[in-house]
Amino acid sequence: MALPKLNIIVAACKGNGIGNQGRLPWFLPAEMRYFREVTQERREELLNTCERNAVIMGRKTYESIPDRFKPLKNRWNLIVSNTLTQDDFKEHSTDQIVVVKSFSEALERIAKNGKIDKTWVIGGNGIYQEAMKLPLIEYIYFTRIDAEFACDVFFPEIDNNCFEKIRESEEHNENNLNYRFLIYKRKSEK
Ligand SMILES: NC(=O)c1ccc[n+]([C@@H]2O[C@H](COP(=O)([O-])OP(=O)(O)OC[C@H]3O[C@@H](n4cnc5c(N)ncnc54)[C@H](OP(=O)(O)O)[C@@H]3O)[C@@H](O)[C@H]2O)c1
Repeated sequence: MALPKLNIIVAACKGNGIGNQGRLPWFLPAEMRYFREVTQERREELLNTCERNAVIMGRKTYESIPDRFKPLKNRWNLIVSNTLTQDDFKEHSTDQIVVVKSFSEALERIAKNGKIDKTWVIGGNGIYQEAMKLPLIEYIYFTRIDAEFACDVFFPEIDNNCFEKIRESEEHNENNLNYRFLIYKRKSEK
């Protein structure tokens, strides 16, 4: 059973900060829209064979999402946790939310499902750290926010030996903050 290829999506400020006290330190609606669109975007050639994308996240990231957006719609939500169980999500079907005990269990569930198009790793820190160690990561969608914020959670450094930047958007400005959408791709093996 082949494990899925993975994509990471993250927004980080100067110093790679991604969160503070269980929430995002900034409010950027267009950036959130980008997250929503990118993580739902499907490959044309897989529209017939796959149903949707999957998102893998840590328990605290799930908790940080406002209730009205949970579970993230049109995506299979896999929550890594050893304190929550499936019973905590009785009102949702396992088709919407699945609680798994480890990141590798999430990958196995997605492989077994067989109808998942893209798999997105959406944080937080421990999940990103674990994913970044794997050769399964193909793309990193990285929103670079050009400002400093107090943060208590960080994104790991992107290894330039393994990843190259293939796209950088023009500068966006929202709520007096400048940011750009970057895309990194795994370098092909020499
Ligand atoms: N800027 C961004 O793009 C972005 C993206 C995502 C999150 N965030 C921010 O990051 C913060 C949340 O991230 P976080 O790093 O604190 O927490 P997190 O990774 O989302 O959640 C941590 C929890 O997930 C479970 N977990 C994580 N790794 C695991 C592993 N390898 N094996 C088993 N369980 C594991 C554990 O849950 P149990 O304790 O239940 O066992 C752990 O306590 C928030 O501030 C959020 O807003 C920012």
